[in-house]
Amino acid sequence: MAEDLSIISGTKEEAYQSLIPQIRGLLDGELDLVANLANISAALKEQFGFFWVGFYLVKKEDLVLGPFQGPVACTRIRKGRGVCGAAWQNATTLIVPDVEKFPGHIACSSLSKSEIVVPLLHGGEVVGVLDVDSDSLDSFDATDQQYLEEIVQLLKF
Ligand code: SME
Repeated sequence: MAEDLSIISGTKEEAYQSLIPQIRGLLDGELDLVANLANISAALKEQFGFFWVGFYLVKKEDLVLGPFQGPVACTRIRKGRGVCGAAWQNATTLIVPDVEKFPGHIACSSLSKSEIVVPLLHGGEVVGVLDVDSDSLDSFDATDQQYLEEIVQLLKF
């Protein structure tokens, strides 16, 4: 597949529906996890212009920063800490409309206002998370959850 991404300006749903086959193409035949996480981060950043989008991977007791697009970020997050650590602990997607109202939120950047965190599951275990941050309040909803969960399911571990 060509490495050019086609970006559309439509509804959020149309944008995800255009992006997912392209992500499928980028991942096709490539088993390297870092390469695939890097391209998913870049594709989401390019299509949606999210403030920060990227991955943390479970390494022993911590989530450790992986491929991402956006400003520099915290490198390690403990299980149960912040939105990412809570999504890891509960093995569930978390949507936070206002990060200041989330107890224990880890502010890697004061510009981040809302957030969605989607766990990466492998063999029933959480092996990492996809974290997307917005600099506007209330940016994420069930549509983001549905499509971001679909996107992380394209990963092979
Ligand atoms: N805000 C996250 C930390 C990661 S950064 O936003 C990139 C959290 O509370 O887990």
